[in-house]
Amino acid sequence: MSGIRKVSMDDVLTILRAAGEATRLRILALLRHGELTVSEIVQVLDQSQPRVSRHLKLLGEAGLLTRVQEGTLVFYRLSESGTAASLLRAMLAPIDEAGAEVAADLEALANIRDERFAEAQAYFRDNAARWNEIRSLYVAEAEVEKALVEMAGEAATGSVLDIGTGTGRMLEIFAPKAARAVGIDMSRDMLAVARGQLANAGLTDAIVRQGDMYDLQLEDGSRTLVLFHQVLHYADDPALALREAARVLAPGGRVLVADFAPHTEEFLRTEHAHRRLGFADDDMKAWGAAAGLIPTDIRHLGGAKLGVTIWQFDKPRTDL
Ligand SMILES: C[S@@+](CC[C@H](N)C(=O)[O-])C[C@H]1O[C@@H](n2cnc3c(N)ncnc32)[C@H](O)[C@@H]1O
Repeated sequence: MSGIRKVSMDDVLTILRAAGEATRLRILALLRHGELTVSEIVQVLDQSQPRVSRHLKLLGEAGLLTRVQEGTLVFYRLSESGTAASLLRAMLAPIDEAGAEVAADLEALANIRDERFAEAQAYFRDNAARWNEIRSLYVAEAEVEKALVEMAGEAATGSVLDIGTGTGRMLEIFAPKAARAVGIDMSRDMLAVARGQLANAGLTDAIVRQGDMYDLQLEDGSRTLVLFHQVLHYADDPALALREAARVLAPGGRVLVADFAPHTEEFLRTEHAHRRLGFADDDMKAWGAAAGLIPTDIRHLGGAKLGVTIWQFDKPRTDL
């Protein structure tokens, strides 16, 4: 822990006391798996909301957690910097996740996420036919698409992977120039629409198949360009999705994430299955960096209410 900022013994004690309680340590161990809302933590721990909120407050005051208010939801995540964060890393590292209590919590969390996955699937099933109409409601699509093509550069001529391809619009744009173009989506209904659209456009070489952005089932280092166009706001764990994208990316390859800038349009959450109301640049950059990617460009586009940002990341070349 060299290079760490020195603090008083009292400060260290406050942090240790906050973490030194069974439920609070469980919460910290749980949040290693992505940020969560209070009600999700309540569900996993099976304790009352006021109790859990009290624990969260204490952890927050000690600097162990960060609280991110997004519309009507508050997400809690582990602190990433400062003294508490370094102590936290050391405290959590030795915890055996196969141990009974942690494993049970992680199983409960997986169940919650499965439920949400099923809800999202149902939403996309119901909206598959209407998606192209819905997608154009919010944004100047043409502007975003033009920027994506510019930013993709040479990476677009290799092996392109479109994650959360939906109705396959990104493949329509990128497949004609790519040596290989594949779209992955969890929703069979979306993929059925995508297949039809690609066939109509004569893009018979573009392939779509069902898959999960967290577990792509594709070889390491096999893609030159990975796209997430309006997908990450559905993600429970965007950091994990970026890590999986980085894994399949070839050295020197590029990831482009196009998504909303932070906004307050709660109806997108309640009516359109969005998990996140846009993303701050700093969060996206931190997730990219944690996945071993280098942020190489950011563009902010469009609307006062719903701006779109494109974040560009490159995977370092191994020969440098
Ligand atoms: C907004 S839609 C389609 C966006 C599409 N890229 C476009 O440009 O029109 C988002 C897509 O993400 C897919 N999706 C959501 N969660 C996913 C996951 N965990 N794995 C794969 N696809 C997912 C949904 O099924 C949906 O088709």
